[in-house]
Amino acid sequence: MKTGWIGLGKMGSLMSRKLLEAGYPLSVYNRTKKKQESLKKEGASTAGSPKELLETVDVVFLMVSDDEATRQLFEGENGLLKAEVQGKIVVNMSTVSPDISREMAAALREKSNYYLDAPVSGSVKQAREASLVVIAGGEKDVFAKVKPLLETIGKKAILVGETGAGNVTKLAVNTFLGIVTQGLAEVISFSATKGIRTEDLMEIINNSALGSPFIKIKGNAVMEDNYEAAFTLSHLSKDLRLAKEAGLDSPLGNATHETFIRANEDLGSEDVISIIKKIRK
Ligand SMILES: NC(=O)c1ccc[n+]([C@@H]2O[C@H](COP(=O)([O-])OP(=O)(O)OC[C@H]3O[C@@H](n4cnc5c(N)ncnc54)[C@H](OP(=O)(O)O)[C@@H]3O)[C@@H](O)[C@H]2O)c1
Repeated sequence: MKTGWIGLGKMGSLMSRKLLEAGYPLSVYNRTKKKQESLKKEGASTAGSPKELLETVDVVFLMVSDDEATRQLFEGENGLLKAEVQGKIVVNMSTVSPDISREMAAALREKSNYYLDAPVSGSVKQAREASLVVIAGGEKDVFAKVKPLLETIGKKAILVGETGAGNVTKLAVNTFLGIVTQGLAEVISFSATKGIRTEDLMEIINNSALGSPFIKIKGNAVMEDNYEAAFTLSHLSKDLRLAKEAGLDSPLGNATHETFIRANEDLGSEDVISIIKKIRK
């Protein structure tokens, strides 16, 4: 199967490389061309536009920021919807709204092409290790065709329902991530004001049933005062907003949404755990 990839940011550059390493022919497209260079050196070819990419491969993956980027790549000049092809599959792995997935799936379907929403759980570390969990929405037979590719990028691929269901599930997972991030920041701050060393608190949490790879990584980031983004606070703010727009209305969901949206202006380009800077008194 010939594969194509759009979006070579923090996640897409690592995920697309897994297809190449597994021996799939790979062609890439990124708005900022210099991000294509290292994959080119490793054997990928490049396409001049999303249209050209879809015309030359069997399946195109997208891993871009948000709904606006998705719309641009589908509907823009030389976008995916301009391709004169049939039977192709577009797999959108970006975290976007269920609405845009339904809209783009319907537009592709008009020319007998297919769409799968397939956002991922996991971050840069899991992308590098190919241990992401792929959460898909769409038709069973379309999912079955690309499942081996999804299992090359991740350790697991699960079909949770029809088009948009993958996005809803991912937004639920990221709401939980926001709640946990804010919770961790709050208890580190609280215990520090009472003279408890963060090293001690984290050793206790990491050795308890509450410990998790995420808590460990984010606790270390606070102790090292390192807020370089693995997952930007602006992307999480976007996900919390999308969850609300999709109908989430709950006490912790609402509080977390408010905290992150307020912090986004100052801290958007930093990692999600930089939220602690807003919580510390
Ligand atoms: N980072 C994580 O830990 C993580 C984990 C799970 C899911 N996600 C989700 O995965 C997606 C990508 O995240 P990331 O961290 O890889 O983001 P990123 O590093 O910011 O990369 C974003 C990518 O989108 C492209 N893009 C943005 N706007 C565009 C537009 N208008 N037209 C064309 N291309 C555009 C960028 O192109 P340029 O290079 O030209 O800017 C870049 O390739 C997001 O939806 C995010 O929420 C991220």
